[in-house]
Amino acid sequence: MVRRDGDEMVNSVEIKCTKDGPNLVIVDGNVVTAMCRCGASANKPLCDGAHRKHNFKAEEKTIKIV
Ligand code: FES
Repeated sequence: MVRRDGDEMVNSVEIKCTKDGPNLVIVDGNVVTAMCRCGASANKPLCDGAHRKHNFKAEEKTIKIV
């Protein structure tokens, strides 16, 4: 467990690298943000969907942080 702020506790944090898409930050099973990994977003560091226009290709992978 990791203390997020105040009394709120985080039990799990993982990064899901989606197939051909962004890195999803998942806290306690909930997607909290989508980070660009294709480099084409006009709203970096967040994904704005531009990876679809640029035909970004990448493998799927999940990294457990906590
Ligand atoms: S991964 Fe979606 S815009 Fe880069």
